[in-house]
Amino acid sequence: MCGIIGIIGTREAAPVLVDGLKRLEYRGYDSAGIATLVNSHIEGCRAPGKLANLEAKLLVDPVPGTVGIGHTRWATHGEPTEANAHPHMTEKVAVVHNGIIENFRELRDELIAAGRNFQSDTDTEVVPQLITHLMRQGRTAREAVAEALPRLRGAFALGILVAGDDQIMIGARRGSPLAVGWGDGEMFLASDALALAPYTQRVSYLEDDDWVEVTRDGATVFDGEGNEVERPVIVTQLSGAAIGKGNYRHFMAKEIHEQPEVVGQTLHAYYDALNDRAEFPGLDIDLFEVPKITLVACGTASLAALTAKYWLEGLARVPVEVDVASEFRYRQAPMPKGGMALFVSQSGETADTLAALRYAREQNQYIVTLTNTPTSTMARESDHVLLTRAGPEIGVAATKTFTCQLVVLATLAVAAAEARGTIDRGEAAKKLAALGDLPSAMSEVLKGESAIEEVARSLNEARDVLYLGRGPSYPIALEGALKLKEISYIHAEGYASGEMKHGPIALIDEHVPVIVIAPSDELFDKSVSNLEEVAARKGRIILITDEAGAEAAGGSAEHVITVPQVDPLASPLVTCLPVQLLSYHAAVLRGTDVDQPRNLAKSVTVE
Ligand code: F6R
Repeated sequence: MCGIIGIIGTREAAPVLVDGLKRLEYRGYDSAGIATLVNSHIEGCRAPGKLANLEAKLLVDPVPGTVGIGHTRWATHGEPTEANAHPHMTEKVAVVHNGIIENFRELRDELIAAGRNFQSDTDTEVVPQLITHLMRQGRTAREAVAEALPRLRGAFALGILVAGDDQIMIGARRGSPLAVGWGDGEMFLASDALALAPYTQRVSYLEDDDWVEVTRDGATVFDGEGNEVERPVIVTQLSGAAIGKGNYRHFMAKEIHEQPEVVGQTLHAYYDALNDRAEFPGLDIDLFEVPKITLVACGTASLAALTAKYWLEGLARVPVEVDVASEFRYRQAPMPKGGMALFVSQSGETADTLAALRYAREQNQYIVTLTNTPTSTMARESDHVLLTRAGPEIGVAATKTFTCQLVVLATLAVAAAEARGTIDRGEAAKKLAALGDLPSAMSEVLKGESAIEEVARSLNEARDVLYLGRGPSYPIALEGALKLKEISYIHAEGYASGEMKHGPIALIDEHVPVIVIAPSDELFDKSVSNLEEVAARKGRIILITDEAGAEAAGGSAEHVITVPQVDPLASPLVTCLPVQLLSYHAAVLRGTDVDQPRNLAKSVTVE
């Protein structure tokens, strides 16, 4: 994770670096720092904590210079102190790094034996130390970098400044993304194009093992063999306008409320409402023939994938396997000839999901990525890209990208079902129309926010919270628990309702809120039985259901959150809204940092 940025130009570098880091803060916010070249020597400023701390420090002690690099950190090796903040600097070299240098211990020992002095506990510091050591032995900066990079194991995107040469800035990439930005008389490096949007929309992406020498007028890219290579310049559509919170207190609240609109936008990219047909142009695989679909993702995205398993198996009768990427990538799963592997990732950069994608590529699968980031590494490495049109999601907790993923997957399930003949044209049209009604159903739920906020008060004192759901409501229960944990820090577990009596029922007493997600579908009666089991043990039930469900469930629930009655296919997109709002309000009530919860980062580009 971590965000890196660099500029070489004629204007003052520091304000551009800080502005770019604001756009990268979603990648980590444990510390921040910049370094520039001033009269050919390196000057730095670093501060632990959020970027605001660095800004405050720079106000008192500005750092001049027109060449600079910057970093916002998500700590891996070493606590989030100033000493461990990037850039890491020697007398000759400054480095910002995103990723992990896996062989840092070995390199550190070697460099210490050679007389180098280390200042931090980080893995990163071996990079400037190694380059400096090689330069001290007589290599030029370019030779030292070219010799150092193959010695690094692990993943990295690097930005490098060399004292004494303010005509170049160096970047390198293996595993972690790095974009080169092409401005007018100025050039940039950044972890993503969004950071550069106010300065240039022309970017080229480095490929693995590339490194780049950037001057004020252009960039020369070398591949891992040292050959000069061309990387195409792409024009992005990203807007340079600052992304604001509008009238909302937090990005998360704004993003929750954007869902009816962005789910509608995303749906209509795949649903021709005039002809009531699902359309996936360019998806070059026969959904009738496909022997198996493997869905892989991390975190919330993996719960969208799990929901899709119920839809694809139930509606389209296609065998589906779902796994979290960190497990899938190492378990040597056999994959069938002609299979499709679908990777779900908001960022398209998650390290484990990317590694899983590469594994599936080796297994000759047809690779599809469902992402919100069309320029991401995963999108670039796929045979086909399914885009969500959620717009930038700034809150660390995924909300609108989750529902946009769900709506694409639901539409895909209808397309697959029709292609496989498991539903007829009329049924497919009915299902699609039900998805078409989602924006208004979702708006209806959001109108009930103040009642949900009241319910959230009852979670405030809880030590543990249980979420229960069956069928496609089970992944929503898991998502409820994940959201509550990550932003309110209340311990929560999601369980399949029927599993409760196999263990978690032991937790239930009059202090434990149990949130049951049970729309009035074919599994409803079974969910009501589980609810009664909780009631019999004095558990405090919060029931999320529709009107028919509320009527049928009887009076065992302490609170009932009622959502509109929708087709079972659309139901997870509706029930997940109260789940998001409950965790949002629980977090606000507890005064946590909702948009930037502790220890987390939005884009997880390390293992
Ligand atoms: C939770 C959350 C994370 C992400 C996960 C995958 O709210 O946001 O669990 O879903 O880190 O990230 P992407 O989708 O970028 O691969």
